[in-house]
Amino acid sequence: MCGIVGYCGPRRVVPVVLEGLRRLEYRGYDSAGIVYLEDGKLIKHRSEGKLSNLEAIIDSALIAPSHIGLGHTRWATHGAPTTENAHPHSDCTGDLVVIHNGIIENYHSLREELKAKGHKFSSETDTEVLAHLIEEYLTDDLVSAVKEAVSRVEGSYAIGVLWAGMPDTIIAVRNQSPLVLGVSKDQGTFLASDIPALLPYTNEVVFLDDMELAILKADSYEVYSLFGTLVEKEIQIINWNAGMAEKAGFKHFMLKEIFEQPQAITNTVSGRINPESGLVELPEVNLDSEEIDNIDRIFLVACGTSWHAALVAKYWIEKYAGIPVEVDIASEFRYRHLIINDRVLTISISQSGETADTLAGIRLAKKLGSKIITICNVVGSTMTREADGTVYTHAGPEIGVASTKAFISQLAALFLFTLFLSQKKGTLSLEKSREMGKALIDIAGVIERELPRIQEEIKELIDNFYDCRDFLFVGRGLSFPIALEGALKLKEISYIHAEGYASGELKHGPIALIDKEMPILALVPQDDVYQKSLSNVEEIKARQGRLILIGTEGDSHLQRLTDDVIFLPKVPDDMNPILYTIPAQLLAYEIASRRGCDVDQPRNLAKSVTVE
Ligand code: AGP
Repeated sequence: MCGIVGYCGPRRVVPVVLEGLRRLEYRGYDSAGIVYLEDGKLIKHRSEGKLSNLEAIIDSALIAPSHIGLGHTRWATHGAPTTENAHPHSDCTGDLVVIHNGIIENYHSLREELKAKGHKFSSETDTEVLAHLIEEYLTDDLVSAVKEAVSRVEGSYAIGVLWAGMPDTIIAVRNQSPLVLGVSKDQGTFLASDIPALLPYTNEVVFLDDMELAILKADSYEVYSLFGTLVEKEIQIINWNAGMAEKAGFKHFMLKEIFEQPQAITNTVSGRINPESGLVELPEVNLDSEEIDNIDRIFLVACGTSWHAALVAKYWIEKYAGIPVEVDIASEFRYRHLIINDRVLTISISQSGETADTLAGIRLAKKLGSKIITICNVVGSTMTREADGTVYTHAGPEIGVASTKAFISQLAALFLFTLFLSQKKGTLSLEKSREMGKALIDIAGVIERELPRIQEEIKELIDNFYDCRDFLFVGRGLSFPIALEGALKLKEISYIHAEGYASGELKHGPIALIDKEMPILALVPQDDVYQKSLSNVEEIKARQGRLILIGTEGDSHLQRLTDDVIFLPKVPDDMNPILYTIPAQLLAYEIASRRGCDVDQPRNLAKSVTVE
């Protein structure tokens, strides 16, 4: 999704905006641009491709004595990723510019209306319509003109506006696409799509809500509802530092974040299990025993990797809390005929807290009477502000587009939530619950210890597999969602076609795919469905399938079936989804890296999908 940066303050604006755009590169983009005000004129530079192309054409601007400007990285929705379509976009005079993240759904009719009034367009984008629409309403009051213009717009938008007629002011408006202000006493005022762009300068942030307009000046900011009232906003302190959003010597953010997973688990669990009583304490969930007893059903709603976390949680919640769980892909959930009432609890799972489909899903469920909880990694993100309760994952900023530590932290948080529910319902003895809580705490240490060895073994193993065209991942029970996750990791960063399947489903079709070429990675921990999983692997072997097995150390059966085995320590069954994800992530990473893929910013992908 697009990256937005704005600044007004004592610093030179061009270096600040460029640094902010660099920190938003992980959001995915295909062109970039910057604009700043100098001697009463708006100076605009744009380029297609990576930020380095933009930097190559603006070296002189780095020392421009300008202190107010905007920057943008565009993820193309309307119009090819060309320089002409890159933001910022101008009105007819060139004295007003707009940057935008989102989709203006009625842009075509607005464009025709404006062309009929004489406006000339120079791009194929929906965003340029905004610049001309503001121009149409502009007299001497930019705020009113922006309000008038956005009142005509249908769709999602986060925008920044700069006008030569108000040289000390940036206007920002948010509706369904994230926008956050960075505020400080002496560094100036910042605007960004996401927190990492702000961290080098301030950790004091103000999240804009939908239909809010902000007026930014070098030493002040004001937030209004689009209906005119001044809004008092809380300043949130972000406990991330700029270094956490850097590579720290790793080749890619993704590898760094894979190795941060033990700490992410520890940070997510710490302070949430009472060491004496063993009770799980989640005060921010806002669910008391009576409300929990009234829950007939739970919906888990998410997208992508977060949906895989939901699939794992279904097993845990139904097994220990005894509550029926439905898991839905958010883009399906929001359009099906939902049978929801106030005895249904809906839980969204989202790293970013901004995924459009998931957000729409919880808004719909809330409207139907459901209580909403969100499992989320970003403090103050939209989902956390709209849910009734939140369980934050404390994974720290996840920059790699492929989710790793956020996924593992989601599993940790969902396991904690399962224990919390079970304790409140009395479906789990305190002794068993304490034992399970300890298993969750201990798994961080197991991963910490095993990660380097697993990485080395995977590096050797991929020599025979990195140039394959297709991959199949299979797993049963708690391993089935991890098979799906392994397939998603591989396909999204290496561009190899990969599918995840329930092992028991092989004979219902996929077994026809088996040949001597396609690797089949099977997750075969010695758990409660081990014998069944082993039978499935034998079926593959009997048809000369190319097996990669991940199983429990000491399991001699596996070595008989293939040379390509990764052994993992025996841990409690419930911890296998967390542990077995590690080799799957590393397999995807090492193959993609060997293939020279853009591991942190895979083609066509965005870190947070804030449009439908
Ligand atoms: C995971 O590797 C992908 N980047 C993607 O599937 C992601 O999990 C999905 O877009 C959901 O994002 P969220 O967790 O921020 O809602």
